[in-house]
Amino acid sequence: MGVKKCYAHVGLGIRSTMFTDAMVGDFKKYCDIVALCDTNRGRMDLCNRRIKEKGGQPVKLYKAEQFKQMIAEQKPDVVIVTTGPDVTHCHYICLAMELGCDVVTEKPMTVDEASCKKIIETQKKTGRNIQVTFNYRYSPPRSQVKEMLMDDVIGDILSVNFTWMLDTIHGADYFRRWHRRLENSGSLLVHKATHHFDLVNWWLDDYPKDVFCRASLRYYTPANADRMGLQGRGERCMDCPVKDKCKFYLDITEGDFKERYLDCETEDGYIRDKCVFSDEINIWDNMAVNVRYKGGTLLNYMLHAYSPYEGYRIAFNGTKGRLEHFCCENSYLSGDGKTPGELTKDNVTITLIPEFSKAREIEVHLGQGGHGGGDPILLADIFDQNAPVDPLNRKAGQRDGAYSILTGVAAYKSIATGKVVKVSDLLGNVQL
Ligand SMILES: NC(=O)c1ccc[n+]([C@@H]2O[C@H](COP(=O)([O-])OP(=O)(O)OC[C@H]3O[C@@H](n4cnc5c(N)ncnc54)[C@H](O)[C@@H]3O)[C@@H](O)[C@H]2O)c1
Repeated sequence: MGVKKCYAHVGLGIRSTMFTDAMVGDFKKYCDIVALCDTNRGRMDLCNRRIKEKGGQPVKLYKAEQFKQMIAEQKPDVVIVTTGPDVTHCHYICLAMELGCDVVTEKPMTVDEASCKKIIETQKKTGRNIQVTFNYRYSPPRSQVKEMLMDDVIGDILSVNFTWMLDTIHGADYFRRWHRRLENSGSLLVHKATHHFDLVNWWLDDYPKDVFCRASLRYYTPANADRMGLQGRGERCMDCPVKDKCKFYLDITEGDFKERYLDCETEDGYIRDKCVFSDEINIWDNMAVNVRYKGGTLLNYMLHAYSPYEGYRIAFNGTKGRLEHFCCENSYLSGDGKTPGELTKDNVTITLIPEFSKAREIEVHLGQGGHGGGDPILLADIFDQNAPVDPLNRKAGQRDGAYSILTGVAAYKSIATGKVVKVSDLLGNVQL
């Protein structure tokens, strides 16, 4: 049994609820939530209500500009950063460390190389701890792949082929709100692919050296909406003249969408149901990335955001054989009340094809809960002070946070220049 830690929590959107529930629920013997912070008063009130409903005590609320005051008054040990847009993470990560706190931050750690360097330098200067919550690592089948690779089942890995499909429900949602602008999210190459590049970095136990990328935006476009017969669209779903025939219509007039977003709109103008075919969008929906790792492994990665199903396929080609892994996740939308990214037995496979042998289906480890069963195990790793040492080394710090975004940053720079981008050039003289 350890001493309880005090947590302040900044950024109280839909993702924050997982942390709130854990701190007042399963891990309450380790946690005291001492303060909440957001730009939006309505979402802070909602979070306090949730704390009360789950049996906790409502806490003091601070607007974003009162963050320093919050730290001075409440003296938290740890600040949890779940703000969105992702571009806001760096400010809170660095300020929290400067003010003497450790940090637990949602992915992506940040969205560009300048803020990444700032985080690395501030961490070195202050000596504080950063944990980046890469829940995908903790999902049992993904942990199982790591175990197999650590057991050297296919020898040295020479190349990796990885395709991730986001569907027209979850994938489309990134084109509705802040994610759809490169300057907010670093595009899906950072916002989403940070998970995927982190997985590859961790699976290979290696780091990216250089990156080339081509990308396009060809599905979430006004022209494609016209092809679907959606002429005369509105700026948002709620009052869109063609909502009755649009497959992407999102109703935010009920439930959590209403409370968390629609009812809070007047304060900050955050519109949750913007048209996915808007010409405001400046991110890509097709991305083809080629990465060379320090150890020489080649990675070919594709991300599509308009697939008929959600999931991924990956194949590792090694000196002693090939390992293939396929996952199809449930379909969900952030905030729709479903468990995000749930896996079912029939939809996950791991196949081992040893050198000169036949393919063997491996019995897959599955778990309950969000993001392939990763969320509950991640939460224990964050909050349970008596958690055993993890042989898979799943706890991710600033170095992992940095390398996982730098592939995406290098990729969007490569799109702009048409050239291969070296990760070391992004870091300059900062050592990871
Ligand atoms: N690991 C995962 O699987 C996973 C899943 C979903 C979201 N996320 C991450 O969690 C974060 C939040 O995502 P979300 O879907 O909850 O977003 P959201 O838009 O629903 O919520 C973001 C919150 O941050 C607040 N905010 C915005 N700017 C702020 C600022 N400058 N200071 C303080 N508060 C500010 C907003 O008012 C809002 O309450 C993102 O970084 C996202 O990448 C991770």
